[in-house]
Amino acid sequence: MQVIISSDPQSVADRASLFIKRKLEKNPQLILGLSTGSTPLKLYQKLINLYKKQLMSFKTTTTFNLDEYIGLASDHPQSYHYFMKENFFKHIDINLTNTYIPQCNQKQNPFLIAETYEENIKQCGGIDLQILGIGRNGHIGFNEPSSSLSSKTRIKTLTKETIADNSRFFKQGEFQPIQAITMGMQTILAAKMIILLATGKHKAEAVQKAVEGPVSASCPASLLQFHQHTVFLIDEDASSQLKNKSYYYHVDDLTQKIENLYRLSDI
Ligand code: GLP
Repeated sequence: MQVIISSDPQSVADRASLFIKRKLEKNPQLILGLSTGSTPLKLYQKLINLYKKQLMSFKTTTTFNLDEYIGLASDHPQSYHYFMKENFFKHIDINLTNTYIPQCNQKQNPFLIAETYEENIKQCGGIDLQILGIGRNGHIGFNEPSSSLSSKTRIKTLTKETIADNSRFFKQGEFQPIQAITMGMQTILAAKMIILLATGKHKAEAVQKAVEGPVSASCPASLLQFHQHTVFLIDEDASSQLKNKSYYYHVDDLTQKIENLYRLSDI
């Protein structure tokens, strides 16, 4: 596990885009796991800019989103389908048939939908790089506290805290979903590499618990401590409660030096 602390949300996005760019350069058929919420918005904007400058292409990339609300049509402005289309997909050269977002309405069999989603990921050979955000209660995707380590894609009932946190996106009196379909913890942990983005003071406690706390289903993001290649890419504010900050800076400094050395000697 690596903890990279950048000065502000923009530098977090810049650094994350660099990881994706390098992965795409090595493998244009990259299978990318994507997240929604306000945190990855700057990253999507950065990737769009790189695409417009012809420094990146998503033509042969496949994406899998983490989650979607139950009860919202895909053209609903608060649905994650709409979010992805408006904030990323419509601005780049991705083939929309290669973009997967789970979706389940009240009339569909959720077990079948979840199984098919898992199967789709498997058929593509698994997720190469998964981008995550984090909820204030430590959730990733919509894996709320108490989510099992071995959970796969399924329906989750949202906690009061998550509903309250996400209510800012809904108009007063508007229907707000209380359930979602989400990749499970096992689905996420099966990704070859994971980058968790967190910015702002309101995420500091969740980040501290996830990185330095005991591994516990009470903080689902702490289960990432089991993953071989997870990077917590966070800003100063989100890092404010970490106890071993100086060590993380030191490691990042040395890691960058080694990476630069190898990259230079590659030329
Ligand atoms: C939602 C999403 C998560 C996201 C979280 C944090 O609950 N399901 O994937 O990480 O919100 O969102 P934000 O980045 O807006 O704080």
